Amino acid sequence: MSNFHSDALVFFGATGDLAYKKIFPALQGMLRRGRLEVPVIGVAKAGWDLEQFRARAHDSLEKHGGVDAAAFEKLSGLLRYVDGDYTDPATFQAIRKELTGAQHPAHYLAIPPVLFGTVVEQLAKSGSAQGARVIVEKPFGHDLASAQELNRILHASFPESGIFRIDHYLGKRPVNNVVVFRFANAFMEPFWNRNYIDSVQITMAEDFGVQGRGAFYDQTGTIRDVIQNHLFQILCNLGMEPPVRIDSETVRDEKVKVLKAIRPLEVTNLVRGQFKGYRQEKGVAPDSKMETFAALRVEIESWRWKGVPFYIRAGKNLPVTCTEVLARFRKPPSVVREDALSRNHLRFRISPEMTIAMGATVMAPGEALVGETVEMVASRHPRPEEMEAYERVLGDAMAGDTTLFARQDYVEEAWRIVDPVLKADTPLYEYEKGAWGPSEVDKIVSPAGGWQNPIATDQEDFRVATQVA
Ligand code: BG6
Repeated sequence: MSNFHSDALVFFGATGDLAYKKIFPALQGMLRRGRLEVPVIGVAKAGWDLEQFRARAHDSLEKHGGVDAAAFEKLSGLLRYVDGDYTDPATFQAIRKELTGAQHPAHYLAIPPVLFGTVVEQLAKSGSAQGARVIVEKPFGHDLASAQELNRILHASFPESGIFRIDHYLGKRPVNNVVVFRFANAFMEPFWNRNYIDSVQITMAEDFGVQGRGAFYDQTGTIRDVIQNHLFQILCNLGMEPPVRIDSETVRDEKVKVLKAIRPLEVTNLVRGQFKGYRQEKGVAPDSKMETFAALRVEIESWRWKGVPFYIRAGKNLPVTCTEVLARFRKPPSVVREDALSRNHLRFRISPEMTIAMGATVMAPGEALVGETVEMVASRHPRPEEMEAYERVLGDAMAGDTTLFARQDYVEEAWRIVDPVLKADTPLYEYEKGAWGPSEVDKIVSPAGGWQNPIATDQEDFRVATQVA
């Protein structure tokens, strides 16, 4: 971790969708917590002036999280705006001027990756890359080769310690809690391995479609959009060994080891689906073969996990919006009737609320020797004062803490795993909106005991209770 704080934030793509939905609310949050005191220079080509830019910030906050009058006033005072083309050196001269006095700016590229090269080169030429950091948005590349090329471009002007590749899932506390829960509890370690765990499944379900992002989505698809990044991060948190220290490099070393232990995905371990009606979405090709759902199986061939299948599925227009992990245990040797037993499980819910639940078999009510599964549940809804993922990652990047960012080797390993199937012409199956993907999933990529579909729950705050599953 470099021990300086960025003394200015320059963000490219300042009039874009991401800025509107996520970045202004994150900046306001940082201000409220005293984590932002430096100039914020928005850059875009919209023909705007500073007043229009401030109005956009206000509008964004009204729609996304609410305006805090005092914080907004401070934010307005910090905002600067540079209008111009990214290929024009004059734009970068204007940025340079706004950066007068700043030694360590952070440049946030909230722009399509095809523009990274142009912007980074211009930053270097204008002298603004010196002593600076660069923060880049996902998707980081399109496949392994393009990710390597992006890394080459960034490294021409920034050292790896100055590059922050955002995966906002890493800014989510429930995602980090998976690691904390594993390593802060003595009872976890003895069973968290191939001797006791039979399979692990990770589901990221969204009950909405592409929400006007058809053009982006049709170039991307589910595997690139959320599996190669967000869900692999969860996979690493589940599979990693305890880091010997908690500095960012040691933690990231352990994560990348998980990916290194996974072989490239085989086409027989993948089912891709597309919801009916996707091809009629704006920006989507009428004969699109892009997936809006994917289910796959990988194995971490480590001492701890060899032989344990990890199943991952994600999709749009599924029945609920929920991200959840379910680990099933091996069955105990039976002393009671086999049919009275079910597998124990451990369930981590990442969103909408954070839940950790342990599923166990108990005697069902009545006189017969019949088992039933109950869950011991600990659950917490996000608190209004909690940091949003974007606030956390932006603040950390400006403080120079790389722990929650994807390192070069990690990104390339993640692409290595999915690269072969992205290049192969794999079948695509249609599914109805509101279904759990195409029915082929259950035939081709299905854990022993089947997929467990997350159900929307309405639990009270951090209740510790026993409930019938
Ligand atoms: C983004 C994807 O990275 O993550 C979206 O591009 C997805 O398609 C989103 O909907 C989910 O993030 P969150 O924080 O809303 O769960």
